[in-house]
Amino acid sequence: MKRRDFLANLSCTAAFAATVPNVWRVTTRPRLADDPFQLGVASGDPTPSGGVLWTRLAPKPLEPEGGMDGQRVVVTWEVADDDGFRAIVKQGRATAAPELAHSVHVDVDGLAANRWYFYRFRSGEATSPVGRFRTAPAANTDVPLRFAVASCQHYEQGLYTAYAHMAREELDLVTHLGDYIYETAAIPGRTRQHVGLEIRTVDDYRRRYALYKADPLLQAAHARCPWLVTWDDHEVDNNYGGVFGENVMESEEQMRARRAAGYQAWWEHQPVRVPRAKSWADLDITRTFDWGSLARFFVMDGRQYRSAHACNQGSDTVPCGDWADPSRTMLGSRQERWISDGLASSRARWQVLANQVMVAPNDSDPGPVTRVSMDQWSGYPAARDRLLRTIAERAPNRTVVLTGDIHTHWVNELHSDFARPDRPVVAAEFVGTSISSGGDGSAAANDSQSSRNPHVKWFANRRGYITCTVDATAWTADYHTLPFVSRPDAPIETPSRWRVTRGRPGVERL
Ligand SMILES: [Fe+2]
Repeated sequence: MKRRDFLANLSCTAAFAATVPNVWRVTTRPRLADDPFQLGVASGDPTPSGGVLWTRLAPKPLEPEGGMDGQRVVVTWEVADDDGFRAIVKQGRATAAPELAHSVHVDVDGLAANRWYFYRFRSGEATSPVGRFRTAPAANTDVPLRFAVASCQHYEQGLYTAYAHMAREELDLVTHLGDYIYETAAIPGRTRQHVGLEIRTVDDYRRRYALYKADPLLQAAHARCPWLVTWDDHEVDNNYGGVFGENVMESEEQMRARRAAGYQAWWEHQPVRVPRAKSWADLDITRTFDWGSLARFFVMDGRQYRSAHACNQGSDTVPCGDWADPSRTMLGSRQERWISDGLASSRARWQVLANQVMVAPNDSDPGPVTRVSMDQWSGYPAARDRLLRTIAERAPNRTVVLTGDIHTHWVNELHSDFARPDRPVVAAEFVGTSISSGGDGSAAANDSQSSRNPHVKWFANRRGYITCTVDATAWTADYHTLPFVSRPDAPIETPSRWRVTRGRPGVERL
């Protein structure tokens, strides 16, 4: 920059500051109408030396700006060895700003590897609830991992009892695979939520997160251990792909604006180490996460970069339209290359794909035709072939795919080529059911689990989650279910347990 331009810019800034004096004023003594920590605390994306600590100031969570009145507020944070905070090991200050919904993301560093810590925030006279989090093991150390897989928590369709049980488990981590919020809400007296009732602006999405985050059971699960979060469609719009929304009347420009609103609110409300984008409509959330030398997680984004659906957004008989076109993509070419390179170069014993929609095909037509979901990987067969070939060539039988989206539990074996089922199994796919979406569910068996879909090994239509226990040689997946979510206090059940032995194809029921 030339010196003259610099001075001109400086005088502009000075003039601006003089006319709007309060914009940059940061206060340590905010005026708060109520407890600003009603949305709880969270942690995520742990490293061997730290992790991201999160909160959001919102004394009136459902009101505009969460009741913060445009104040710019100093928040102090503390990390301690004990939950009484007698032995504080790190502390600092952050600013909660109105343009980021008074969210706070502290990327704390300098802690010891493979250890539990406690954290809390303070603002003015208020102190947050205490959260517990842990650092990841150091690189090149082989430490077992126990974590939960969650997804799909429609607020109006069921209670978060699953999180009450999850919060009682000893877990190192929770992986959330998306549909953390829903852009539609059941309106009393209406049978079907229609597009006109959907949220669109960043303030709409913020209010929706505030509603969900206010739930004490969800807060308890966040406060218990770090999370690793990705998104699916409902963080923006049902079944969207790239810039194509559910409603075909919504233009690409409108969808980009909606993406920007949804992505920004997601960033503001999640404990993620995701750099802010120049434009919120293009927020890259893909990242790896290492658990020592045991596991490398690839946190995927199956929404932002995908091609438009072929034929329609529901299920369809195939082939149809441009369904099989090899140029169609689920992940986009950059993300495909990232996974392919990552599977080749990772030295971890297990490769974990934190994925959105089901990879295994599910032919739902009992007759001779094949009918599959066009929103799942089955709707993008060439992209699925590329993914499975990559796994087969680079990390066979040490890759596990974790999937959400469809509100039911599945155990699938992934073959290197589903067009030729005699091809070997190269990975396991554990599909976790919803936390609440879909309501109570039923005990009915799945008619898809038949000779049409021999790679589907188990299925259940109940709400719940999976816990995975991983060591150097074996991966165990425990499938948990709740008999109901329409009333409180459902017990937790474990109807099925599965094991993958590293280096050996297929899953084994325990
Ligand atoms: Fe969902």
